Amino acid sequence: MEEKWWQQAIVYQIYPGSFQDTGENGIGDLRGIINRLKYIQSLGVTVIWLNPIFESPHIDNGYDVSNYYAIDPIFGTMKDVDELLNEAHKLGIKVIFDLVLNHTSDQHPWFQEALKGRDNPYRDFYIWSDPKPGGQLPNNWASFFGGSVWEREPLGDQFYFHLFAKEMPDLNWNNESVQQEIVKIAEYWLDKGVDGFRLDAFIHLDKAEGFPDVEAKDGEIVLAEEYYSNLENVTDYIADVARILRKKKPDIFILGEAASADVEMARRYSDPKNEACDTVVSFRFFPMDESHKDTRLPVNMQREKLDIAAFKEIMSEFQVGLEDIGGPTLYWNNHDMARMVSRFGDVEKDRDNSVKMLATLMYLQKGIPILLNGEEIGMKDLERSSIYDFKLPNEQFFREKALELGYSEEFVLHQLNAKSINASRGVMQWDTSEYAGFSIVPPWSGVNIEPSYTVEMQEKSDTSILNYYRQLLKYKKTPLFTKGQFKLLETNHQLYCYERTLGDLTALICCNFDSKEETMIDARLAKLPYNVLIENENNRIEGDTIALAPHGAIVIVFEKEPTNKN
Ligand code: GLC
Repeated sequence: MEEKWWQQAIVYQIYPGSFQDTGENGIGDLRGIINRLKYIQSLGVTVIWLNPIFESPHIDNGYDVSNYYAIDPIFGTMKDVDELLNEAHKLGIKVIFDLVLNHTSDQHPWFQEALKGRDNPYRDFYIWSDPKPGGQLPNNWASFFGGSVWEREPLGDQFYFHLFAKEMPDLNWNNESVQQEIVKIAEYWLDKGVDGFRLDAFIHLDKAEGFPDVEAKDGEIVLAEEYYSNLENVTDYIADVARILRKKKPDIFILGEAASADVEMARRYSDPKNEACDTVVSFRFFPMDESHKDTRLPVNMQREKLDIAAFKEIMSEFQVGLEDIGGPTLYWNNHDMARMVSRFGDVEKDRDNSVKMLATLMYLQKGIPILLNGEEIGMKDLERSSIYDFKLPNEQFFREKALELGYSEEFVLHQLNAKSINASRGVMQWDTSEYAGFSIVPPWSGVNIEPSYTVEMQEKSDTSILNYYRQLLKYKKTPLFTKGQFKLLETNHQLYCYERTLGDLTALICCNFDSKEETMIDARLAKLPYNVLIENENNRIEGDTIALAPHGAIVIVFEKEPTNKN
């Protein structure tokens, strides 16, 4: 495969509202990002991905765009964008924007026009259906945000389709004018100097014709992924857009969000011969053990544990299945999920080793790392202290239902802190001042105050998580870890060990999920020259045995035995 710059990329996701506030209103802004570019560069990341910064009523944190050509004043101005792009580029950092192309805000002028009636030229920009006889919903499909995907228009008798909030009507990709408008938007930002896009929720662009009911009990509204996710036309829709954009900017980076894609679908979306995405993010990486959940409560609001055996299987499937096309994306968290150390590590008793282990495990595999801002200092989920601080409808529903079933407030709080959509959106912990250096006024999200998990404190220690990340990402950029062949090794259940091999070099990466010591035997340790490239605390090597500390991680590089010429 032809080599592309983004195959060596290390992406840093910035949730703009939570990164750095300079406007003294408790919301992060573009100027805040500009002021922190040197820090971002110091991590070794090469691409910034910004969650949406466009004009929006913020029903869904900016994913409901009302004007794709304007910057939302809460984040700054167009001048700030120009400056951000300029300054980032000077430091060798590329910038990609979130392109929301499955839906708009209901406040977008296209939708406002469409609402005017069936004859309006913008009517066909969206998806409409007549009611079933008796005025009922057109079908039984559920929206991802709860309730039906259908909402009755205020003035007429048709329903419009929304896969997310009812204030986010889906665009009709069967309409070529929609495609053309999205291309225009993308071209506008490319002209400004943006280096690529993260395609939001693109796997839903195609919906099943005729909107057939999905199998369900009478009167029930249920998720109908087979009718609105990963359907046949999706790849072509994206390829049509991508081809035009690549003509304009041949080295554009197109990163797709493909939540439910399995390996085969991920391959379809990112195989260069299909000319669609360069790579995609799949949410299938984390199969969870849900056996302990109480099914009387919403299962997606209850904590869960990683199913390690299934995780190993699925990760190596993605590694092997996408190996020849650059590998998958590598990530542990994003703005829609809990933070990595809270979800997969031991945040109470072994936080530092947990974070370092998880980072080592994930990022030295083949593929493109995507870090969520703050993970590089081991930030945990935003913790609220009262169950009444959770105000979203699904959070309130869970609280009421759990209390009704006799669960304690403590239990409810423990679940909500992990499962709230805002869990990972807490503000960046820069220093030890009152609001963690994020702002001088109370941050919109609340803030965790924990001095050891701030940039300020971690800059001062060679063994900090921050400095471990810097070192790890430096190694990640070397050919052994960008190009080397991946092989998962058979080990104890709690260990995740793999090799990367390139030419004469083999790296052995051993990671321990357990909260007790685990051992791994490798005969090469006694036979071949090796060096320990990087490790976290308290691991030991004795003879051919590696004793991995609780949540231990170690990377050992072997050179091939010199061949004896005599
Ligand atoms: C993506 C975003 C998520 C958003 C949704 C709708 O999944 O990551 O935050 O709610 O799309 O735009």
